[in-house]
Amino acid sequence: MQELILILDFGGQYKELIARMTRSLHVYSEIRPGKLSAEEIKKISPAGIILTGGPDSVYAEGSPRCDPAIFELGIPVLGICYGMQLMCHTLGGCVEACDVGEYGRIETMLDGGSLLMRGVKANPKLLMSHSDRVCAMPAGFRHTAITANCPIAACESTARRLYAVQFHPEAAHSDGGRQIMHNFLFGICRVSGDYHLDDYVDRQVAAVRKQVGDKRVLLGLSGGVDSSVCAALLSRAVGKQLTCIFVDHGLMRMDEGDQIERVFSKKEMHFIRVDAEARFLQKLKGVKDPERKRKIIGEEFVRVFEAEARKLGGEVFLAQGTIYPDIIESGGEFGDTIKSHHNVGGLPDDLAFEGVVEPLSGLFKDEVRAVGRLLKLPAALVDRQPFPGPGLAIRVTGEVTRKKLDVLRHADRIVRQEIGRSRRKPQQYFAVLTGVRSVGVKGDHRTYDPVVAVRAVDTTDFMTCEYSPLPHKTLHRIASRITGEIRTVSRVVYDITGKPPATVEWE
Ligand code: XMP
Repeated sequence: MQELILILDFGGQYKELIARMTRSLHVYSEIRPGKLSAEEIKKISPAGIILTGGPDSVYAEGSPRCDPAIFELGIPVLGICYGMQLMCHTLGGCVEACDVGEYGRIETMLDGGSLLMRGVKANPKLLMSHSDRVCAMPAGFRHTAITANCPIAACESTARRLYAVQFHPEAAHSDGGRQIMHNFLFGICRVSGDYHLDDYVDRQVAAVRKQVGDKRVLLGLSGGVDSSVCAALLSRAVGKQLTCIFVDHGLMRMDEGDQIERVFSKKEMHFIRVDAEARFLQKLKGVKDPERKRKIIGEEFVRVFEAEARKLGGEVFLAQGTIYPDIIESGGEFGDTIKSHHNVGGLPDDLAFEGVVEPLSGLFKDEVRAVGRLLKLPAALVDRQPFPGPGLAIRVTGEVTRKKLDVLRHADRIVRQEIGRSRRKPQQYFAVLTGVRSVGVKGDHRTYDPVVAVRAVDTTDFMTCEYSPLPHKTLHRIASRITGEIRTVSRVVYDITGKPPATVEWE
């Protein structure tokens, strides 16, 4: 049986970092609700338990609790931040508000005798983010770390295999954090590290074959990372039983539709490219409002997908590229609700499927990309930037026409080529065809042409972002190429707004 670390969630913003760090150390981990009972945990039989941080105070009424019996199972437990406070509070210690909270990298004195801290320098800077602290340890615990404002920054009871740290070893900014996590997993939980992505692929291939038997599987392929990797994995699992429908709405970037077709038409599967450009542009004719554009595109997707799905008939499984964060974020970890993806969400009830196949639902995005590489998908697909479902329609402000889309596609290719060449790599970058026209002069002629905007953002989560300070040389090259190569553009501007107040996309 595969080794498993159970991460009990108390609302901490770093829970995904904990899971990703254990997995990058080749130890599989899953995030579950903090209230999971000791009985259920016993059945799961994890090699170790990690209690996450969280925004609450353990002494406040209604703050999240864990089953106290989890500390009696004999399974090693590591409490982090709120998890530390919860462990100490539950076992008879005391937690109080700090006089001075600690936020950021804080110098911490470690006790070299702790197995958890082995191999870490004596006074690392560790990431802290807390306004409560443990003021008295439970009986039998000894303290193993101290900071200027936190006399018990870590404590442990080796006899009971319980460990607690106020800092965040899972954060990249914590000196020696990875070593601490390694010590917990390999030194204390005594795992061997049996999690490898190629095994994941093999296991999923076997699981999908078992689930679908000789029935058919249908996947909506958008060309995004998740659906592309899902298609490659399913193709390996069920070959010709798989049908991928790629709805080409004509709102893709330059040559993107052809590239998707080239990659997937070679794989063993039925690949259907539905050329729906005319349909989509017809529906978008005269529509200027961004929300209406999005709605029309979403609905049209469903209509096209539905029509193709009906043609297949019979007993068919619906496949989706749902990934682990979709499940964690939806909070529907134990349900099987269909992800409201733009091309399958909202399918009519009478279009019944045998079941849902989601072979990537245990993986984080970086793992999905790694699986894509294992399955030999081209880098251009695997490392693709996020691309909105409504495509370029929300990067052409106002009414969308084929002519405007072609101008944008050309400008966008230049932006991507030039930034791709630069040393600075923002997480997302593209061109926007603004609805503004401006006066210019080209070869002694006065022009009055559309303005192209360049957008490039630095972000980790796409919920917030900063504009990326691109080198002026890159910006200059982009502007001269766009105005030189595209006859109808004579001005290029750079969007230097963060999110908030702006969004990444213009519409
Ligand atoms: P915003 O514009 O909301 O974008 O700041 C945040 C991130 O989400 C992407 N985005 C979308 N992705 N369907 C998608 O699949 C959409 O309708 C959509 N709108 C925005 C955007 O590209 C950015 O990465």
